[in-house]
Amino acid sequence: MDEWGGSKYIADAELSPVHVTPILIETIHQFFAPHMTTEKHNTEFPEHASENSRIWNANAQWWDDQIGGGNVFQDVLIEPHTERLLEVRPGDMVLDVACGAGRFARRLAKLGAKVIGIDYSDKFIERCKQRNVADGVEVEYHIMDTCDEPAMLSLGEKAFDRAVCTMALMDMPCIEPLMRSVSKLLKPGGYFVFSFLHPCFHSATIQRFVEMGEEQSGRHVVRKGVKVWEYLTPAAWMTEGIIGQPEPQFCFHRPLHLILNVGFQAGFVIDALEEPALPPAETESEGLRWIDMSEIPPVMIVRMQLPVES
Ligand SMILES: C[S@@+](CC[C@H](N)C(=O)[O-])C[C@H]1O[C@@H](n2cnc3c(N)ncnc32)[C@H](O)[C@@H]1O
Repeated sequence: MDEWGGSKYIADAELSPVHVTPILIETIHQFFAPHMTTEKHNTEFPEHASENSRIWNANAQWWDDQIGGGNVFQDVLIEPHTERLLEVRPGDMVLDVACGAGRFARRLAKLGAKVIGIDYSDKFIERCKQRNVADGVEVEYHIMDTCDEPAMLSLGEKAFDRAVCTMALMDMPCIEPLMRSVSKLLKPGGYFVFSFLHPCFHSATIQRFVEMGEEQSGRHVVRKGVKVWEYLTPAAWMTEGIIGQPEPQFCFHRPLHLILNVGFQAGFVIDALEEPALPPAETESEGLRWIDMSEIPPVMIVRMQLPVES
């Protein structure tokens, strides 16, 4: 099962940048500018918000059945790195944003943190509560939309030492209200650690490839990698987060600088960043799994911090 690895199908294509000479660009602008479509340069897709929420609820139980017990992405790439960057101390108040079925929230609770998990899928939150009992941990959960800033702020300004959001930014139609509210919910000096599909290597416009060629020395080599196009333009695509899921879901592609700028505008600075990849497969395969491409990081993990008040 290949989580966060399904094929991507375009939903809302934007005009891709045309790479031509400056003179030609000038000519195109002079003659065609009045008729050209404006590219989307913001990060927000409110027009897809309600459908996105419906799809997450439709897929929630199936998703939890598939990966609630963990998989290689969570076990190797996401959770250990996120936990290290988060530097949670016993007694810390931690907000787990878009917590899904609460896997990471429970992991933090076992480290002694007081965790509140929020997600807008009531089906996921139902699973969270069931899994709390099964795991014998106490985590508080709320059904909440991260695009709803007043609801987020009702959790308490400066109430949290840490906030975390694992593998959900690309699933969210809006990230500006999230960054703004988390910057107010955290105490001065607080960390916000978030992981997401690496927008350069694992996003809507990416195709994985395998090719065979000869080196100058006369030996055949097999290369596996990714091909990228239309990186700069934010776009909403349909995708399978897990191949075979009941309904395709949205993937909101945003280039890296736009994602990070939203955090900077909310008052954060970055003080740590990781691009983990899976270790090389023990046996050579003809497939195109992420484990076959150990030089390419499929996810990125960022730690943002609020300045300490003087
Ligand atoms: C890929 S899952 C990740 C879940 C969990 N953090 C994990 O790592 O397993 C993405 C989650 O984002 C949630 N989500 C997407 N948009 C949201 C929004 N606007 N408000 C709250 N939750 C949202 C979905 O319901 C889903 O649980």
